Amino acid sequence: MSAKVFTALLATASVISAAPFQPRALSSSKGFKLVARIVGPSKDLSVPIQGALLEGAHVGAGMSTTVLNATNPGVIFYQNGTAEEVQQGVSSILSDGGTPLFPFGLSAYLNSTDAASPVALAINGGIGTTGVTLTKPAGGRAGELEWGAASFIACDETLAYYGPSWRFAVVKDLVSPNVKSVIPDNCVQINLLPLCTTLPDLPSGSMSSHEFANEIACYESLSDIN
Ligand SMILES: *[C@@H]1O[C@H](CO)[C@@H](O)[C@H](O)[C@H]1NC(C)=O
Ligand SMILES: *[C@@H]1O[C@H](CO)[C@@H](O)[C@H](O)[C@H]1NC(C)=O
Ligand SMILES: *[C@@H]1O[C@H](CO)[C@@H](O)[C@H](O)[C@H]1NC(C)=O
Repeated sequence: MSAKVFTALLATASVISAAPFQPRALSSSKGFKLVARIVGPSKDLSVPIQGALLEGAHVGAGMSTTVLNATNPGVIFYQNGTAEEVQQGVSSILSDGGTPLFPFGLSAYLNSTDAASPVALAINGGIGTTGVTLTKPAGGRAGELEWGAASFIACDETLAYYGPSWRFAVVKDLVSPNVKSVIPDNCVQINLLPLCTTLPDLPSGSMSSHEFANEIACYESLSDIN
């Protein structure tokens, strides 16, 4: 189905539907997981991704490529930054990993040889990319993951580290003024929405800190998103 047809169907659906998509049951929390919701176009990837949680596929010491996996529990994230940084959209999204616990930040890597090709996302040891963070919608609604004007996509791919037979839903970012026309054939556009979860206390001796973990608006359960 072409992007144009899909958009037309969506438009029709919202006209005939008595109850357009309206997520409910909002709560707030310092900890959250990130849940994928497919935006389009409608196509099957070899890995199911609707409602799947973001996690890292280990690809080297302290390095993980972001993937979606519907059968795994997902990574617990928090939004790190002062109130002013949150207001300016320059906070970051962190998780804790390793022993002792160390910050692992959501990180975006521009393609150095081809600026128009999708941006790689990773969960790597360190502070992450400032500005890869949650939007701040008005009216107490939950935000979603954002990085400037970029759109997230999930792509049906292999990862060199795992060999040619294991397929992943690899999450990347498209920086394009017209995302719909440039979504690669093996990818769909997604939103990543925060699902409330408890941010565990840090054991003593941790290298991470939750001092600047913000309370964010999030969905109470998966059924409030799907
Ligand atoms: C978290 O945010 C605070 C406040 O800006 C900053 O001092 C700290 O370095 C950040 N932590 C990481 C791991 O980026
Ligand atoms: C950068 O883009 C080129 C051309 O699209 C692609 O072949 C290459 O794999 C990309 N590099 C990374 C690190 O994604
Ligand atoms: C998802 O996680 C399960 C359980 O760890 C694993 O068996 C499966 O291979 C993973 N799938 C992908 C696509 O990563």
